[in-house]
Amino acid sequence: MNKIKEILEYVDNHQLYPDLRIIQGGAEPEVMIDGKKVLMFSSNNYLGLATHPKTVNAAVEATKNYGTGSDGSRMLSGNLQVHRDFELAIAKFKGGQDAIVWPTGYSANVGVISAVMNPPAIGAKDFFNKKSLILSDELNHASIIDGCRLSGQDIVVYKHCDVQDLERKLRKFIRRRKLVVTDSVFSMDGDIAPLNKMAPLCKKYNALLMIDEAHSTGMLGDSGHGATEYFGLKAVDDIDIILGTCSKALASSGGFVVGSSDLIRYLRISSRSYIFSTAMTPAASASLIAALEVIEKEPWIREKMWQNVELMRNGFNKVGFNTCGSQTQIIPILIGTDENAIIFSRKLFKKGVFGPCVRWPAVPHGKSRIRFTVMATHTKEQIDYLIKSCREIGRELKII
Ligand SMILES: Cc1ncc(COP(=O)(O)O)c(C=O)c1O
Repeated sequence: MNKIKEILEYVDNHQLYPDLRIIQGGAEPEVMIDGKKVLMFSSNNYLGLATHPKTVNAAVEATKNYGTGSDGSRMLSGNLQVHRDFELAIAKFKGGQDAIVWPTGYSANVGVISAVMNPPAIGAKDFFNKKSLILSDELNHASIIDGCRLSGQDIVVYKHCDVQDLERKLRKFIRRRKLVVTDSVFSMDGDIAPLNKMAPLCKKYNALLMIDEAHSTGMLGDSGHGATEYFGLKAVDDIDIILGTCSKALASSGGFVVGSSDLIRYLRISSRSYIFSTAMTPAASASLIAALEVIEKEPWIREKMWQNVELMRNGFNKVGFNTCGSQTQIIPILIGTDENAIIFSRKLFKKGVFGPCVRWPAVPHGKSRIRFTVMATHTKEQIDYLIKSCREIGRELKII
């Protein structure tokens, strides 16, 4: 315990312990935090569906029908009709042959990568007797990184969204069994992976391609189906493994994979985080089915969302902030040092805006930032107030 004490002392002495403020109430643009009414600019509830009457009603009805929990793993007593209904709905939404769901996006990433890249031995040893290889973007989400590590296979990191670097590395390891894995929208920068270039490259070098659609599901593409729709790519034909989380625009919790029927059948018997963990709640599955329906039937919500994205990004760029190449609803402003990012976030809170800072290890050293997100439910006045407040603090701290 001495080591733990030592670390805590260091963190406290350098004022590095995260603020972890308590939020009272629902995921609305205005929330009560630590007893104070503030504007929320950090929610993943991008489309405002966490409080949409249809998703809320679906969750309530499912709880009445099934109870509060799912009572077990999908392999045992937790394989509910409502879970299968959501799997079929998300498979259709993403254009794949079938789907499988996990209780969280984190457990999906961890469970899929290790299952696919470290399959059980069933006969003769691998011909080359070499480990498989995972090529991972340097800014991939922590759950992808942990999935790669858990697989026990070799990991090669390629430069962020750099297709030339990826090709160099694919060529170098031409004889190995390979998986290329990337976020489709990056969670800390809000930029989009060049999947239109990556998909043909993976075909050329015989590598599997897996994308994490956590922040693009419900957002990208004409109908919100994700990065595949945005680039005109197809599940199974162009992208082998489409993973996503249910905790962002879909406004609940859970993780999913959409792909070929064989892939899904295989994952059900090989993914340890699927087999050895209790299934998501019935309320979550039911609200997710409703969320997909709302996205299909109420396109105006997504239109409003994209108007807000433009308004906020242009506003920040105009006053001189670096928005890290964001192309989406995740709009960070680069601050630099940990210390300044912490001060910035605290000053912002005093002005009535919640925008937490993000520091290493979530982002590289020296690239601390305030990570803002926009919601379809924000008003122009709220976005204008955010920009004005950031401009004042940015000038005071000499960041702009
Ligand atoms: C890109 C990405 N993948 C996976 C996850 C994990 O999803 P969950 O929060 O559902 O566990 C996140 C969550 O922040 C994410 O941003």
